[in-house]
Amino acid sequence: MKTAIYRKSNFCSAHRLYRKEFSDEQNLAIFGKCSSPNYHGHNYTLIVKVVGETDPETGFVIDMKILAQLIKEHVEDKFDHKNLNLDTEYFKTLNPTAENIAKIIYEILRPKIDARFELGIRLYETEKNFVDYPA
Ligand code: NI
Repeated sequence: MKTAIYRKSNFCSAHRLYRKEFSDEQNLAIFGKCSSPNYHGHNYTLIVKVVGETDPETGFVIDMKILAQLIKEHVEDKFDHKNLNLDTEYFKTLNPTAENIAKIIYEILRPKIDARFELGIRLYETEKNFVDYPA
């Protein structure tokens, strides 16, 4: 049987959800307060799940220190206290919704974690709103 391990982390980022071809009114109707033209912040909570066989020698699925470092270097350091639309390479043309941020985090981490492990990303944009990628 496989085991799932989880590493939780947090980052605070600004974003704006909008389509540039839409008016401010249309953006407000579709994206609500997240379309506010001057950006706003969220305190994101990220939970990275790794599923695999427990190594009989170490008793670990994956070394949590290594996983924590990967998340810090490749997610937190890129996203924390940044404007996702303006300061990152990922959301110049892609809306930084929770769905898209989770998918980008998956794509960043997937090649850095051995293919024998299953990887899952859960991202909370608020306490009540969160997404899983892949579903
Ligand atoms: Ni928002």
